[in-house]
Amino acid sequence: MALEFSTKVAEPDKLATDALVVGIYESGKLSESAAAVDRAAKGLITELIKRKDVSGKLGATRVLVKPAGLACERLVLVGFGKEQELGAKGYREAVHAAVSALKDTGAKRAHFYLAELPVRGCDVRWSARQAVIVASDALYRFEEFKSQKSPPAALQHIVLALADRSFADAVAEAVAEGRAIAAGMAFAKNLGNRPSNLCTPSHLAEQARQLAKEYKLGVEVLERKDMEKLGMGALLAVAKGSHEPPKFLVLQYNGGGKKNKPVVLVGKGVTFDTGGISLKPAAEMDEMKFDMCGAASVLGTFRAIAELKPKLNLVGLIPATENMPGGGATKPGDIVKSLSGRTIEILNTDAEGRLILCDALTYAERFNPAAVIDIATLTGACVIALGHVATGVYANDETLAEQLLEAGREAWDRGWRMPLWEDYQEQLKSPFADVANIGGRPAGSVTAACFLARFAEKYSWAHLDIAGTAWKSGKDKGATGRPVPLLTTYLLHRARQS
Ligand code: BES
Ligand code: MN
Ligand code: ZN
Repeated sequence: MALEFSTKVAEPDKLATDALVVGIYESGKLSESAAAVDRAAKGLITELIKRKDVSGKLGATRVLVKPAGLACERLVLVGFGKEQELGAKGYREAVHAAVSALKDTGAKRAHFYLAELPVRGCDVRWSARQAVIVASDALYRFEEFKSQKSPPAALQHIVLALADRSFADAVAEAVAEGRAIAAGMAFAKNLGNRPSNLCTPSHLAEQARQLAKEYKLGVEVLERKDMEKLGMGALLAVAKGSHEPPKFLVLQYNGGGKKNKPVVLVGKGVTFDTGGISLKPAAEMDEMKFDMCGAASVLGTFRAIAELKPKLNLVGLIPATENMPGGGATKPGDIVKSLSGRTIEILNTDAEGRLILCDALTYAERFNPAAVIDIATLTGACVIALGHVATGVYANDETLAEQLLEAGREAWDRGWRMPLWEDYQEQLKSPFADVANIGGRPAGSVTAACFLARFAEKYSWAHLDIAGTAWKSGKDKGATGRPVPLLTTYLLHRARQS
């Protein structure tokens, strides 16, 4: 069962709960709630600090069982480091540490008095929203394919508690947002983590249909013959090498008025990227099951938005296919005609993301969009440029770019602006067709974005290259659920402004 979240106004020292969680600083200073608890427990916390038996170092935790003078079963002390330096990153680390400490106890219900700690540049709403997201993330597990599931976690319920009433409504709203974003992320993570033999284009279509049914969204699935009729030659060129039928998913959420132009989200849905005839090397190729994380983030964002019901209209477009070598596969040098009518020389079949996206971007025109945002694990070069921290943000509209960067900062799902200068377009020239699908080694993430820009000239458009941020490698291998927080936050801001 999923972790539950709620809010409550109560005095911490009198609260009967499985676990009472309060914050302390490295200086020995106590948060307001910690101080109240300390008084009721006859100076227990100050005594522990004096003896150097607990430190307030960032992320340090201590669980005390049945402390005298308090009504709780356990008191959990969490270090928040240096008070003056506490920022978003530190706060998130401390909450993560608190949840990890609770994981090793039998506590079913925990009351967190943490939103009250001042975090540089953030308000109480932010702290509450982030606590929900961080806690959900810390407890996420993907065990669909394990015969031996780990025993269910004891912790079932986190209450974001406040000592006084003044922020209660704001925190309740923030918790609802955090819950929706966390559920959207978990949905995206599950899709990303599923292997490509299960998570095929048909599976994505099935998941979209289920989501649409559950939340009463519009859904349409275009089949190969529909794509042929429309003339999606670029998308079809990628699908040619695979036995799995491609799908083009269209989702619609109508929460705004009829006259409100929609935002269109376009997600790259390559359910496995072998590179095609331009075959990838074997090492870490398994990670190319994550090449549909853009699509997953669109579905996850739809889930969050459908929960929160903001006043806006939203369209989701997901071109979904495998990229396989095979007797029928596209070969380097092949020329295809895109939905836009322009021809593309496919010099490298591994640059397939931009091929499926360019047809989706042309298809987006029919919705008369207010803005189009595509999300794609598009280039290894973006990982080289920005690592696993920032998503690459490209845009042909300054306002849209700034709004996305701002949403990313707030959601702590950050992006970094990259250039789309005309000068780079030169690298995409083809002697035989209107454009080539690769631009050589220099600025590989930029030239991929420049390719897309050519198909997005008719509207406000942004491109998020999530190649470095959509999943983690190594021992914690797995999808991250990014950029569901960024996208959902952007859409909520937008709905508030209009
Ligand atoms: N899905 C990959 C991008 C990718 C690679 C993301 C590694 C994360 C990690 C994409 O389809 C791709 O193969 N891009 C090529 C483009 C090149 C052929 C111009 C790349 O980045 O090498
Ligand atoms: Mn590729
Ligand atoms: Zn790819």
